[in-house]
Amino acid sequence: VEHLLGIKHLNRADIELIFKTADHFKEVINRPIKKVPSLRDITIANLFFENSTRTKLSFELAEKRLSADVINFSASQSSVKKGETLIDTANNILSMKVDLIVMRHPNVGACDFLSKHVDAKIVNAGDGTHEHPTQALLDSYSIREKLGSVEGKNVVIVGDILHSRVALSNIYALKLQGANVKVCGPKTLIPKYIESLGVDVEYDIKKALQWCDVANVLRVQNERMAINYFPSTREYSQLFGINKELLDSLGKEIVIMHPGPINRGVELTSDVADADQAIILNQVENGVAVRMAVIYLLAQQIEHK
Ligand code: CP
Repeated sequence: VEHLLGIKHLNRADIELIFKTADHFKEVINRPIKKVPSLRDITIANLFFENSTRTKLSFELAEKRLSADVINFSASQSSVKKGETLIDTANNILSMKVDLIVMRHPNVGACDFLSKHVDAKIVNAGDGTHEHPTQALLDSYSIREKLGSVEGKNVVIVGDILHSRVALSNIYALKLQGANVKVCGPKTLIPKYIESLGVDVEYDIKKALQWCDVANVLRVQNERMAINYFPSTREYSQLFGINKELLDSLGKEIVIMHPGPINRGVELTSDVADADQAIILNQVENGVAVRMAVIYLLAQQIEHK
C-alpha cells in the first residue's frame, strides 16, 4: 500500500509483514543502543490537529529510533489559527523537503483527502470517528504477544463504539486475522451498521466478559457527545464499568486492554486498570515498535527527488 490511511485498505499478509518487522524493531529498542540508521535520508512531519499523548510521542520516538529527521506541528500553535488551509499547510511543510506526513485530524477522511492532494506518504494517526490504524495494529500485536496469536480468539470491544475510531480499526484488523469479535455497550453508543461488519452485539457486560479471551475497553468520549446524552457517566459506570468484583465473578482470567487515556472509575476502576491481567502499558510499549515498522515499510517506497 502507498499510504496507511486505514486498516480497511490492508490484507492479512500486510499485517503479518508489519508484525514481523515490528518483532525485529522490538528487539532493537530493547538493546542499550536503541537506534538504527535505516531512515537517515528521510524527513517526517507529525501534524496534529487534535490532542494526543501516546500516539504523538510514540510516532516521534519511532521516527527518531529509525534516525529520521523529525518536525512536529501542533495546529493550536500554528498559522491554521490564522485561516491557512490543510493543503496549504501541508504543501508549505513539504516544500522543506519532507517525505512523509503523520496526521491526526478531527475530521473523518482528512488523511484520505490529503493523500490525494499532496506529494507525500500519509500515515493516519486518527481521523475523527473513522480509523486509527496504528492503534489497531499495536492492539493486535499485543494480543499476539500475550496469547500467541489473534486467530480464533474471542475479543469483545466494550463501550462507546459509535464515536470510536479505535473500535472500527480494531474490528477490521481482528476480523482479517480470524478473531471472533463482539461489541458491548449501551444501545445509544452502538452504530446500526455494526452487524454488517460480521460483529455480534452483547448488551450484558457480564455475559460479554464470560465469552471473551480479551476485553478491549474504550474511553467514553464525552467531547464527541451532546449534553444530556444517555447514559450519563454515572449510569455508564454502573451498567458497563468493569471493576474487580465483576472480573473475579467470571471464574476465569481475561486480558484487559485500553487504548488510553483512561477515565478511571468510569470504564475501568483503578484496581482493574492496574491489575496484572491488564496489558495497557504493554500496548503503549508495543506502539513504538509497530509504528517503527509502519514508517520503515512505507519509507522503502520513497524515491528521492
Ligand atoms: N490511544 C491514543 O490514541 O491515545 P492519544 O489520544 O493520547 O494519542
